[in-house]
Amino acid sequence: MTGADTAPSGAPGGAGTFRDRLRAAFAHALRGLAADGVCPVGAEDLPALLEQVRETAEAKFGDYSGTMAMGLAKKAARKPRDLAVEIARRLADAPGYSAAFAPPGDPVGPGFINVRVRDEALSAAISAAFVDERLGVPRVAAPATIVVDFSSPNVAKPMHVGHIRSTVIGDSLARLLAFRGHRVITDNHLGDWGTQFGMIIWGWRRFGDEAALAADPTAELGRIYRLVRRLADAAPEDLAADPQLAALAAEHPGAAREVLLETARLHEGDPENRALWERFMPACLADIEKLYRRLDVHFDHRLGESFFQPFLAGVVDDLVARGLARESRGAIGVFLDGDDKPPFLVRKGDGAFLYATTDLATIRWRLEHWNPDRILYVVDHRQGQHFEHLFATAKRWGLPGIERVALEHVAFGTVLGDDGRPFKTRAGDTVGLESLLDEGVERAFALTAGDEGLDDAERRRVAETVGIGAIKYADLCQNRTTDYVFSYDKMLELKGNTAAYMQYAVARVEGVLEKGGIDREALWRSAPAIVPADPRERSLALAILRFGEVLEDVEADSRPNLLTAWLYDLAGRYSAFYDALPILKCAEPERTSRLALCDLTGRVLRKGLGLLGIGTVRTM
Ligand code: ARG
Repeated sequence: MTGADTAPSGAPGGAGTFRDRLRAAFAHALRGLAADGVCPVGAEDLPALLEQVRETAEAKFGDYSGTMAMGLAKKAARKPRDLAVEIARRLADAPGYSAAFAPPGDPVGPGFINVRVRDEALSAAISAAFVDERLGVPRVAAPATIVVDFSSPNVAKPMHVGHIRSTVIGDSLARLLAFRGHRVITDNHLGDWGTQFGMIIWGWRRFGDEAALAADPTAELGRIYRLVRRLADAAPEDLAADPQLAALAAEHPGAAREVLLETARLHEGDPENRALWERFMPACLADIEKLYRRLDVHFDHRLGESFFQPFLAGVVDDLVARGLARESRGAIGVFLDGDDKPPFLVRKGDGAFLYATTDLATIRWRLEHWNPDRILYVVDHRQGQHFEHLFATAKRWGLPGIERVALEHVAFGTVLGDDGRPFKTRAGDTVGLESLLDEGVERAFALTAGDEGLDDAERRRVAETVGIGAIKYADLCQNRTTDYVFSYDKMLELKGNTAAYMQYAVARVEGVLEKGGIDREALWRSAPAIVPADPRERSLALAILRFGEVLEDVEADSRPNLLTAWLYDLAGRYSAFYDALPILKCAEPERTSRLALCDLTGRVLRKGLGLLGIGTVRTM
């Protein structure tokens, strides 16, 4: 992010975002400081310093502000304000500066260098964005190959609310990185080989019901899974509380051990267990596919744990041969933090491989086949240590190309109920994802009850988009690393930072054009000049043109909530504009200019929601 992160968009006159252009000018100024001996600034210091060129919090301070003088002053042995004066002077002379920005005034306060975008430059940029298919968003200058590993549920157990976070955050990151111009490869690393299959295989042989499996395989497999799980995990107090369970447990005293044996047999290639696994998998997949379709989430690949099984023994052998892993009490592990700390296990004493082994095989496979620059793992923060160890091991393993791959755990917090504890049903079960979506949609449907002019089928469609959009947005607008409280009431509110509010904003913006009978295609073809003369037009136009800057920031830290915050801010600015200024009723050329601004706002909001995986509706 040195001001050269993005290349010009396809728009005529496009030259990166205003922030890019200003950062380039600041880079010039800072290099000048160093050359003139005012302050030692090395090339390696530049990126962090240029990060301090950002939009201002309040329009009265200008549009953008550079705040690095305060941090640099010590190094230069000057007062921050004096240093700011030196920077500002060089800024004004930087190539390209004066085409886009007014001369910087005197630094403000302790040394803020505030900068205002020139009206003509703003008009040119927003008019160019209007006719640009990319809405003024530049492509990255150096596209990377980025693997996004997300969703990745353990199949054959019902997907629960925890999986929504990985699915929704991962999908949004993938969409937005692709829009930025990267080569994105999405992969659903399914847990399709774990102990849950031992449970189902063992349970099926004892409690399976052929007719039930034929009628509704997921329900039957779910029933068996839950039953065996309770049986295998039952504590004495569970048995005391449930005589039926106690009777079953007495009948199958070795359940827990036998379940593990069935898993081991599956892994060893036992033909009968393998046949059962193959029989159950299609139903498991169909089940999650249904959810993905509903969520409008798609993957390029679905290379689950089972896919990597043939490679695991080789991975362990290779780690041992390279002296990275060794035996310890029958098991094999990588001692990352010295001999006295627990190792990163890659093979258990009984010969079984682990989650870690599969993940190592997966990294090697991805490197060989995809040659990525980055791999993002969108997974619960509770797996933080696993990924720390995994990445450290992978780096030491010496796979060709590993040194230049960024391995990143995009961690997220827990979804809580209103009692502040992990979100559960009243009965204390985890909440299934399917019923969660159903309820969101049902509630959205109830809210559209008063809407005339919508027939039932239309209402259903609107409710699906609004209900699912609400659930996704409620998740994406959170700071991903913190826990958040799940609330249907809040997420469906029409006010505040919610999907419903944003969808409503789109409908409202586009309603203006509809009401005026505006032919949007023709307006687009006419490539009108947008002249943001009023402060409210100006504020709206500047926010629209920040789209590319915001996406850059989202990418830098994998934080979609920066995008939701910006969308919300944009909708607010649109309201201020719409409430204060006539649009359809004003004279030309303002009328066309304002209509174009409306149209562009609508397209930008729609695109922003689209990058979050959220749809829009015509009316609501
Ligand atoms: N299946 C795992 C779980 O549900 C998540 C897998 C994440 N991806 C990975 N490559 N480990 O906890």
